[in-house]
Amino acid sequence: MSSDLRQLPIGVFDSGIGGLTVLKALVARLPGEDFLYLGDTARLPYGTKTSATVERYALQAVAELVRRGVKAVVVACNTASAAALPALAAAHPALPVIGVIEPGAAAAVAATRTGRIAVIATEGTVRGGAYQRAIHALRGNAEVSATPATLFVALAEEGWTRGEVALATARRYLEPLFSHDQSAPDVLVLGCTHFPPLVDAIREVVGQGIQIVDSAATTASALAQLIQYRNLTHSAGSGATGFLVTDGEDRFARIGPVFFGRSIAPTDIERVDL
Ligand code: DGL
Repeated sequence: MSSDLRQLPIGVFDSGIGGLTVLKALVARLPGEDFLYLGDTARLPYGTKTSATVERYALQAVAELVRRGVKAVVVACNTASAAALPALAAAHPALPVIGVIEPGAAAAVAATRTGRIAVIATEGTVRGGAYQRAIHALRGNAEVSATPATLFVALAEEGWTRGEVALATARRYLEPLFSHDQSAPDVLVLGCTHFPPLVDAIREVVGQGIQIVDSAATTASALAQLIQYRNLTHSAGSGATGFLVTDGEDRFARIGPVFFGRSIAPTDIERVDL
């Protein structure tokens, strides 16, 4: 493996700003790596679109990252992970590509005691049954329910992650899932990378006894293992992150920090056409 390849950034892709919740964990886990993030902000939401459309968008996004030079790609979007991972692997056979659903499933299975797991995600992720399959592959007797919580994506993109609208929305989606004490799940998976910033509102509805998990930390560990296995680890990078968006650079700079946990300089954001 040439050292040049090791020095390339890791590409991270989402429909919008949600993948920044994963990027935050990647940067923390792999501080010596550089990253190039692409948010397809012109075309989100992905979650309400057909899987054929999401697959096409994902192929275009990853082609752009590859064109710019990345050594691996994290599909930091559950909807795109559910719809496009096989197509991405076929289009880029030499490129290490990981999604967030298997890591999210692993986090859920590690956290559950009862085996009853609730997943909230986008319509597209729920429709394909990807979480159910990934969880059952790890724990065959798990009882998995998956529910779309589409409006959380719009709230997150709007930056309305706290307050009465977030809380009322969380009640509407989650109260029916956690109302039966005996058979209620003990784990809630945030199966959409836009959802973690809404965790306070979600916690208020589900109560303290439920473990809330997402894919960010387990995805970071899976990526660390994958690039080590492929001899692609780089420890001397500056931790620099570049950002590509397909629309709305100002909005991305304004709302992105809620997800990323640090400020994003407008000069680090470039608009790109896919
Ligand atoms: N953040 C994406 C996910 O994890 C999708 C949000 C959307 O564009 O609908 O599923």
